[in-house]
Amino acid sequence: MSLNIDKIRSDFPALNQRINDDKPLVYLDNAATTLKSKPVIEAVNQHYQMESANIHRGVHYLSELATQKYEDTREKVKRFINAPKKEQIVFTSGTTAAINLVAQSYGKTYLQEGDEILITHMEHHSNIVPWQILCEQVGCVLKVAPINDDGEVIMDEYLAMLTEKTKFVSFVYVSNSLGTINPAKQMIDAAHAVGAIVLVDAAQAVAHMSVDVKDLDCEFMTFSGHKLFGPTGTGVLYGKEELLAKMPPVMGGGDMILNVTFEKTTYNRPPYKFEAGTPHIAGVIGLGAAIDYVSELGLEEIAAYEQQLLDYATNSLDNIPGIRFFGTSKHKTAIISFLIDDVHPHDIGSILDLQGVAIRAGHHCTQPVMQRFDIPATGRASFSIYNTHEDIDTLAQAIHKVKEVFV
Ligand code: ALA
Repeated sequence: MSLNIDKIRSDFPALNQRINDDKPLVYLDNAATTLKSKPVIEAVNQHYQMESANIHRGVHYLSELATQKYEDTREKVKRFINAPKKEQIVFTSGTTAAINLVAQSYGKTYLQEGDEILITHMEHHSNIVPWQILCEQVGCVLKVAPINDDGEVIMDEYLAMLTEKTKFVSFVYVSNSLGTINPAKQMIDAAHAVGAIVLVDAAQAVAHMSVDVKDLDCEFMTFSGHKLFGPTGTGVLYGKEELLAKMPPVMGGGDMILNVTFEKTTYNRPPYKFEAGTPHIAGVIGLGAAIDYVSELGLEEIAAYEQQLLDYATNSLDNIPGIRFFGTSKHKTAIISFLIDDVHPHDIGSILDLQGVAIRAGHHCTQPVMQRFDIPATGRASFSIYNTHEDIDTLAQAIHKVKEVFV
């Protein structure tokens, strides 16, 4: 069944506004964050208006209700990513927090001097810097698999870099700046063949394609709620049961303990061991509504719709003289990184904004990708379920305007 785009658009109140001299908003910055649907906003509102209470602690009605809804989301995430058990779902403040958690817990405990961590050249800073911090702490070595001119991991080189020294592999499923979809299963299988543990950063994947951790068989997987139409400040770390069980907590505090004395504290079981303090309860409940929303639409339908948006956008923009694309893999999601002649991307972004078109301009927290292509930044249009051919036509016209002003 194909998506009803008019209905979807009516579910996102932000689309129903005019900006910058009465221009209809064309939101093409979905890789940075997605807009929020009414069911998500209502779920968060309901918590704050009527059901505000802390979780796991109270014996009163509201606390039990909030606990139930918070834990319901854990169950929804479990089903969404096909995890074996809901206890394998740890709530975090986002992908960045999840990767840092794994680095500081698993990495600091089980990696040693000389061990190698393999990442790729297309990682977001959040999948580079936590490993650099770990390398400084324990003396392990960060290795980087190169990418080709299309923005794809060079598989021969990736495979050659996997050796018995490789103890951990961490890579992005979908590149936020190039759109490339990595051959995750093949990369994971190869890493397992040398005995490495694998983390998949699925932040840019989960809203655009189905992600199945049982099929991938990765040890860890992370994503952020806000790129999935959910609230900011929410995220998920999935981990294999035996690893979560043997990993020490990174943050101490309330809710992560079984018993505290001044002599000795015993920790709660996973996932609670990793969820110290009062979490983003309203946000997690909103994330549950976001998962319901996309699950009802269907990830396969979403992927098919966005692929035809990508094709339409690539063909339209390709007709603009002077445009250069970065990220031209055959396997990519609906993200177009581009430059026009020698116009600075911030100027592109500003002129587009005046036409009502929101894109991101910059290095997209992937400075090494910019270094690889020897450019300072790009303009990036990233598409989602509520975007239309009309949006893409407006984008193309707005880019023509950039050329009128600057070229
Ligand atoms: N990682 C986000 C982006 O790609 C913020 O824009």
